[in-house]
Amino acid sequence: MLHAMAIITYLLPAVALASTALAQCSNSATTTITASADASALASCTTYSGSVAIPTDLTDPTDSNGHNALSVSGVEKITGNLTVTNAVNLASLTFNDLKSIGGFELGALTVLSTLSFPQLASLTSLNFTALAALQDLSFGDTGVPQANSILITNTGLSSLMGLTNLQQVTTFNINNNPSLQNISLQVTNIQGALNIEANDGYVSGLQTSFPKLETAKNMTFRNCSSVMLPALANVTQDLGFYGNTMQSFAAPNLTTTGGLIFVDNTDLTNISLPELTSVNASYQIANNTMLKQINGFQKLAIIGGALDFNGNFTDVALPALTQVKGAFNMQSSGTLDCSAFDTYNTNKVIKGNYVCKGSLSKPGGANTKPSSAAATSSSAAQPLNVNIPTAMGGTSILAGLLQLLL
Ligand SMILES: *[C@@H]1O[C@H](CO)[C@@H](O)[C@H](O)[C@H]1NC(C)=O
Ligand SMILES: *[C@@H]1O[C@H](CO)[C@@H](O)[C@H](O)[C@H]1NC(C)=O
Ligand SMILES: *[C@@H]1O[C@H](CO)[C@@H](O)[C@H](O)[C@H]1NC(C)=O
Ligand SMILES: *[C@@H]1O[C@H](CO)[C@@H](O)[C@H](O)[C@H]1NC(C)=O
Ligand SMILES: *[C@@H]1O[C@H](CO)[C@@H](O)[C@H](O)[C@H]1NC(C)=O
Ligand SMILES: *[C@@H]1O[C@H](CO)[C@@H](O)[C@H](O)[C@H]1NC(C)=O
Ligand SMILES: *[C@@H]1O[C@H](CO)[C@@H](O)[C@H](O)[C@H]1NC(C)=O
Ligand SMILES: *[C@@H]1O[C@H](CO)[C@@H](O)[C@H](O)[C@H]1NC(C)=O
Ligand SMILES: *[C@@H]1O[C@H](CO)[C@@H](O)[C@H](O)[C@H]1NC(C)=O
Ligand SMILES: *[C@@H]1O[C@H](CO)[C@@H](O)[C@H](O)[C@H]1NC(C)=O
Ligand SMILES: *[C@@H]1O[C@H](CO)[C@@H](O)[C@H](O)[C@H]1NC(C)=O
Repeated sequence: MLHAMAIITYLLPAVALASTALAQCSNSATTTITASADASALASCTTYSGSVAIPTDLTDPTDSNGHNALSVSGVEKITGNLTVTNAVNLASLTFNDLKSIGGFELGALTVLSTLSFPQLASLTSLNFTALAALQDLSFGDTGVPQANSILITNTGLSSLMGLTNLQQVTTFNINNNPSLQNISLQVTNIQGALNIEANDGYVSGLQTSFPKLETAKNMTFRNCSSVMLPALANVTQDLGFYGNTMQSFAAPNLTTTGGLIFVDNTDLTNISLPELTSVNASYQIANNTMLKQINGFQKLAIIGGALDFNGNFTDVALPALTQVKGAFNMQSSGTLDCSAFDTYNTNKVIKGNYVCKGSLSKPGGANTKPSSAAATSSSAAQPLNVNIPTAMGGTSILAGLLQLLL
């Protein structure tokens, strides 16, 4: 009898009846329990070894809206998962004494508006999906300091209060939460992927801040109004910014990254990475329409992949560059002085296919042929120091492409 996963249905008001189904405090296979009494039996277990699930159909009486409330006291630890999915009438979920759980999965709870776990301080993973009515997370005073994986998608949350003190996390994915205003974490190292995307319903945008984050593996920021990474020193894979609305981005302590990407950040005017010395994969800057000056990389020496800049800029400075292992593509609709890059090309600093051209009507990415220069005004159409490799034929493009992929 030590092998059953308990499924608990419990509704307010509490009815303290004895239950045979949950008389033991250790289960690891599936048991379905649908009466209030089953949860009061769980309450006698300080530690519950096994997983707890709440099924879709709550059989106890509902309030006048047809909504249910579920409240459990007594149990402090659930060693397995707590899973509640598709309980479409569940409006309130409370575990008064729960301090520790394994996985915490809430999914498709369309009317859940109250979530109260006032003691919760430990969980392995959190997966909250499709919780449109949920506006607040209420965890213990200290919040949850540690988790392997956090996924929050499609909720009504306006803040991640219960996660503010998160100090260790492996993967962190927060997407499509239209009311979210602020993400601020105390984490120092993110060993897996961070992804923040499409949380852009709030009028002034989502502000993100990671004041202590020093090292990360792979990070993607989309649709944020600010990204603060003051302590970030190294990123092993990619650091990417897409469709954000911040006006400036600075990472004063960043020394190395894998790839570095800035695409479609429509308000961005200033990128400042004063300590960056190497981008070990490719470096892409594209379609940041307000970015006119790209000169915040005074120490950047090595680009391990391609350099691929296109946009509307007029001023690019890469004074410390010693090696670009892949292609070099720089195309702008603004006027551009390519002489410094021509010299890098001549001196073999650039190993791959080389293109640098300004005053283009349609500046394109690596391996696009620069479109003919805009002819709208004579000043904008000044010939520039264009240096396209003599052979723009198939082999050269292919070589550039191969180097791009290295
Ligand atoms: C808890 O959920 C996770 C993720 O869904 C799963 O990998 C794990 O096996 C579950 N653990 C138990 C004890 O059911
Ligand atoms: C999160 O939960 C949803 C259902 O609620 C499931 O489809 C999804 O696979 C889970 N994701 C992870 C990473 O556990
Ligand atoms: C964001 O949240 C953190 C932690 O809760 C708080 O300290 C900070 O003031 C908030 N920032 C804004 C702009 O609301
Ligand atoms: C940036 O690096 C310097 C030197 O290593 C360090 O003293 C400083 O505290 C770092 N800044 C932050 C915000 O961590
Ligand atoms: C970041 O990388 C640099 C260069 O590889 C190294 O000197 C430094 O110790 C690293 N910093 C952290 C916080 O890992
Ligand atoms: C980037 O490459 C440099 C030089 O090869 C190396 O010292 C550094 O550790 C690499 N950084 C990362 C984050 O992989
Ligand atoms: C790593 O980051 C890049 C750039 O932000 C992103 O395109 C990619 O999907 C990320 N990979 C993973 C596994 O998260
Ligand atoms: C969010 O960012 C993506 C780029 O990743 C962009 O295509 C999209 O338009 C942005 N959404 C809004 C509302 O700005
Ligand atoms: C760009 O940002 C950096 C860091 O915040 C700042 O020092 C610099 O003055 C800014 N440059 C411009 C042109 O605003
Ligand atoms: C930049 O914008 C152009 C024109 O809309 C588009 O064709 C191109 O794919 C965009 N580049 C990137 C890297 O998103
Ligand atoms: C370039 O910037 C100017 C303003 O400085 C703007 O009028 C123009 O539309 C931009 N062109 C492109 C292709 O973004």
